[in-house]
Amino acid sequence: MVTPDQYSFLSRRDQEKAAYNDEISYSDLSRPDNNICGYSANGSIPSSTKFHSQHLSSYEYEKPQNLPNYSSLHKYGYQRYKHRRRKSSKGDDLHSARDDFDEDQRKCGVWPALFCGFGALVAIGLIVLLCNYVEKKSKIEKEEKANLKISLIFTDMWNDIHLHRIAKTIIAAQEAAEKAEKLPQKPSLPLCAAIPATLDGLTKDVHLNIEVDINDIIKTHSDIQAGGEWKPPSCISRHRLAIIIPYRDRWSHLKVLLYYLLPVLKRQQIHFRIFVVEQYGNFTFNKGRIMNAAYREALKMFDFHCVTFHDVDLVPEDDRNIYSCGEHPKHMSTAIDKFNYRLPYEGLVGGVLTFRVDHFQLVNGYSNMYWGWGGEDDDMTYRILARNLRVFRSPGNIARYKMVKHVGRTVSSIRLKLLRTAAKRARLEGLNNVPYKLLFTHMEKLFTHFMVDIGKP
Ligand code: BGC
Repeated sequence: MVTPDQYSFLSRRDQEKAAYNDEISYSDLSRPDNNICGYSANGSIPSSTKFHSQHLSSYEYEKPQNLPNYSSLHKYGYQRYKHRRRKSSKGDDLHSARDDFDEDQRKCGVWPALFCGFGALVAIGLIVLLCNYVEKKSKIEKEEKANLKISLIFTDMWNDIHLHRIAKTIIAAQEAAEKAEKLPQKPSLPLCAAIPATLDGLTKDVHLNIEVDINDIIKTHSDIQAGGEWKPPSCISRHRLAIIIPYRDRWSHLKVLLYYLLPVLKRQQIHFRIFVVEQYGNFTFNKGRIMNAAYREALKMFDFHCVTFHDVDLVPEDDRNIYSCGEHPKHMSTAIDKFNYRLPYEGLVGGVLTFRVDHFQLVNGYSNMYWGWGGEDDDMTYRILARNLRVFRSPGNIARYKMVKHVGRTVSSIRLKLLRTAAKRARLEGLNNVPYKLLFTHMEKLFTHFMVDIGKP
C-alpha cells in the first residue's frame, strides 16, 4: 500500500504500478484541474498540486476478473486493457490511479491523435497528388519535346529532298542548255503550205493492170519508216493521217494502190501512217467490224487527228484531192471510172471517206452488223446525218478514182432491212462495242498489218 505522500515521490511507471497492484485509494491524491490532460515534464504527477476529489466521485472503477498481472498487462499496452464503467454507489475510493490514467488517455490522447492522424493522412494524400501531378507534367513535357524533335527531323528531311530535287532540275536544265549551245543549231521547220507547190494535178498515168513488185515500191520509198509512217522532211505537215485499208485476199490490189497512193500522199505533204486490217478466217466478210477494230488499234500506236477509210481497189488519179479532214466528214471518191465519174446516188459515202477523229467517234464508227458486200457505208450516211453533220464532197473534177476490176463478194441480203433502223442503232452499236480479237500486228516496210478475228455471222 502506497500513501499519497509516498506516491508523489514515485516515478510515473512506479506510480502506475503501485496504483494498479495495490488498488490504492487515493482520494487524497491531488490532480490539477488546469492540467487534467497531463503530467509534469518528467512524467510524474506533481505533489504540490491541489486535489479535487469530487470530479472522480461519481463513478466506480472496477477491476475486471482474471486480470493478468501488471507486467503482462503492460506488455500488451494500456489500450488493450478495457474497463467496464458503471455508476458508482459506494463513493470515490474504489477507483485506481490506473483508471484515471486511461480516462485521461481517452479524453486527452485519442481525439488529438485522431485529428493529427487525419491531418497527416490529408497531408500525405496531398503530397501524393502533388507528386503525381509533377510527374505527369514532366512526362507530358518530355513527350512534347520528343514529338517536336521528330517533327523537326521530318521537316529537315523533306526540305533536304525538296532542295535536292530543285537542285537536280536546275543542274539538268543547265546541262541541256550547254549541250544545245554546243550543237549546230537546227532551224525550226516551217508549216507546210495549205496547197503544196509539189502537186502534179490530174495524171493520165494510172494503169491498173501493171505488175508491181513490192520490193521496188519499198526501194522507191525507203524514207518510209517500218509500219508505214512518213512525214515531210522540209516542213511540218498540217495533217496527221491514219489510212485504214480493209483487206482480204487482195494482195495484187494492195500493191497497185500503194504504188500510186504513196507518191500522192508525199506530194500532198501529209504526215501519214498506213494500216492494213485483215479479217482472219473464211467467214463472211464484215468491213464495218474490221475498220472499227483497226481504228481502235491504230489509236494505240499513232497520234493522228484525221482518219481515211480506203477501199483497196480504188486508185487516186488526181493529187489535188487532199487527204485531209475538216468541218464535216469528206467523201473523196466522188467520181469513179466504174460509174463514169459520176456519183451513182445522193448519200453515197462508200469508197474513200475521211473523218476528223472526234467526228468518227461522235458517230460511233461503223455498224458491226453488215455481213457480206454492201450496206455498211449507207448505214454510215445515216449516222453522220443523225449527228447533225453533213457530208462534204470533193469536187468531181479532182475526186477521181479508178477501180480495179474483180469478182464481187456475196451481197448482204438483209442490208436494206438493217438500213431502216440505222439511225436508231447508231448509239447502241459500233465503235463502242465492236467485238474483235487482235491476233497479231506486223510492222511491214510500207504499212502496219493487223490480223483480227471478228467471229462469224
Ligand atoms: C451498197 C454500197 C455500195 C454502193 C455502191 C450500194 O448498193 O449498199 O455499199 O457502196 O452500192 O457500189
